[in-house]
Amino acid sequence: LNNGLAQTPQMGWNSWNFFACNINETVIKETADELISTGLAELGYVYVNIDDCWSSPSRSLQGSLVPDPETFPSGIKSLADYIHEKGLKLGIYSDAGVFTCQVRPGSLFHESADAELFASWGVDYLKYDNCYNLGIKPEKRYPPMRDALNATGHTIFYSLCEWGVDDPALWAGGVGNSWRTTDDINDSWASMTTIADLNDKWAAYAGPGGWNDPDMLEVGNGGMTYQEYRAHFSIWALMKAPLLIGCDVRNMTAETLEILSNKEVIAVNQDPLGVQGRKVYAEGKDNCKQVWAGPLSGNRLVVAFWNRCSKAVTITAKWEALGLDPTISVSVRDIWKHEDMPEDALTSFSTQVDSHDCKMYIFTPQMAYQFAV
Ligand code: GLA
Repeated sequence: LNNGLAQTPQMGWNSWNFFACNINETVIKETADELISTGLAELGYVYVNIDDCWSSPSRSLQGSLVPDPETFPSGIKSLADYIHEKGLKLGIYSDAGVFTCQVRPGSLFHESADAELFASWGVDYLKYDNCYNLGIKPEKRYPPMRDALNATGHTIFYSLCEWGVDDPALWAGGVGNSWRTTDDINDSWASMTTIADLNDKWAAYAGPGGWNDPDMLEVGNGGMTYQEYRAHFSIWALMKAPLLIGCDVRNMTAETLEILSNKEVIAVNQDPLGVQGRKVYAEGKDNCKQVWAGPLSGNRLVVAFWNRCSKAVTITAKWEALGLDPTISVSVRDIWKHEDMPEDALTSFSTQVDSHDCKMYIFTPQMAYQFAV
């Protein structure tokens, strides 16, 4: 969507994956405080996004959405002020149907009034869900909220949560700043790998202004190993996915913070070229030895070696799979170790990867190249 936002994928935090409906204004404020004190905000995680369950079960007599008086007694405006004072941005959630997924009021047929209300509160971001949609096509339900947000005169990030039902990559480029390509993620290796593959299909449709959204991060929620979370974060960064933290940042382990804070991996995600990296090569049993890659600005490539096998393996990227002429020598930097390889590589690069881990490198070809995949 051409509203000036999302020149690179959005970064921030969202309440759903860890808290679900268990949210309140204290949790949101403490999260904002933690984003600052951990240094995550400075690394780009600026959106603090409230998901479902912030609103009362019914509208006011005048027909307005009302924050739940038990959990958000100070209201959303005051929360937005708190967040803005810290230099962060506030996101909220509604639904392109008659109810949200947790059966709070939806915004279908209330688009203008609700957009006006969000804008008056100082909301910077709207995640717009797909429950209770009366069977009306998403192509009919999502544009009215885009127009309503636009009419407020405030620039509001518009995140479509249509679950990839009607292939949103094909039509949402002019509607939203990102669109979900899949059903909900859960905190497991099976879910994360499945979703990565589904999102990969739509790579060609992502770019500055509008991104494929394979759902929010589960890093730090406990259902995957350190290696699996590192793979999750690597591949989400490479796919130019939104980097929305989904854990309780008030109680993170050092390992979780280390993964989420990797500046070089974040830089891959936020690279100004804005091209979604792809699975370029897979071999072995069930194609478990995988190479994912994509072009970066400055005549560079990001190349990830993802081991989905049940034991450690060596994975090889051949230059031809990356569209590189075999005569080009390439300098290689490991962006998890923050280390340059001692020698340039020629024709291919191989590395040993632990089970379910992912190694990630920046390749700098010593000649201009054409990424041909
Ligand atoms: C849907 C969305 C999730 C979350 C929940 C909230 O399932 O896909 O991301 O917003 O609704 O109810």
